[in-house]
Amino acid sequence: MHAKTILKAADICHSFGGLMALKDIDFTINPREIVGLIGPNGAGKTTLFNLFTGHYSPTRGEIFFKGRKISGLKPYQITPLGIARTFQNIRIFGQMSVLENVLTGQHCRTKTGLFGAIIRTPAHRKEEAGARNTAREMLDFVSLEDKKDDYASNLSYGERRRLEIARALAANPTLLLLDEPAAGMNPQETAALIDLIRRIRDEMAKTILLIEHDMKVVMGISERVAVLNYGKMIAEGTPGEVQRNEEVIKAYLGESA
Ligand SMILES: Nc1ncnc2c1ncn2[C@@H]1O[C@H](COP(=O)(O)OP(=O)(O)OP(=O)(O)O)[C@@H](O)[C@H]1O
Ligand SMILES: [Mg+2]
Repeated sequence: MHAKTILKAADICHSFGGLMALKDIDFTINPREIVGLIGPNGAGKTTLFNLFTGHYSPTRGEIFFKGRKISGLKPYQITPLGIARTFQNIRIFGQMSVLENVLTGQHCRTKTGLFGAIIRTPAHRKEEAGARNTAREMLDFVSLEDKKDDYASNLSYGERRRLEIARALAANPTLLLLDEPAAGMNPQETAALIDLIRRIRDEMAKTILLIEHDMKVVMGISERVAVLNYGKMIAEGTPGEVQRNEEVIKAYLGESA
């Protein structure tokens, strides 16, 4: 494996019953890269995320993260190793406060456990205060600090997407997976999102893999773009290379035809 590689998928296949959702995928991500993952609807993008986070196990092939095999592990085992994600269909708890939603992202990190939580040992209290501080910092980072006590259900669509990002960041990942973060955002929110993703990489030193249909976003911030079509990786390169790729153009024209 390349010394710099943070994530490596080696010859991955994934099928749902008879449907081959991913075929022979070889894919790597290097530290502190921003990589875009694009492709028409149903191409297999979210399935690939689900394999990286342990929501699914690949039918064939192996996945390595920081040199360690993670395929076969469950999400609760993979998150603490340093992979966190947002969801295409936003998953927030509407009846919990914005801050509480972010706190749920840190449960994988707490150590004192249920016993400590019930009898409220000093160690637990200290840990809880630390978790709240981190949650507030993350909310500040995504510009939601002033909404921390609001019900999450009161947030706008764009704010909910930013809340999911804050929750993922609270798990302190090395690799952040964003599944269509700009979906449903207005142009101002999208512009702010582009800036936010850059800051997450530059100021927090994260590595980012981004699924996005908004080409302005993905071509604007990705250093490298990978293209899936019908479960196959049909192209990989700089945004310019991918936009000029014949097979990519055909895949997208096919979608709108
Ligand atoms: N849990 C599942 N059970 C059965 N089929 C599934 C399941 N999840 C995804 N699929 C199928 O696998 C293929 C890839 O789906 P996936 O959600 O990964 O696509 P995608 O590239 O994320 O698409 P979109 O841009 O619409 O989100 C599709 O044909 C989809 O219908
Ligand atoms: Mg998807």
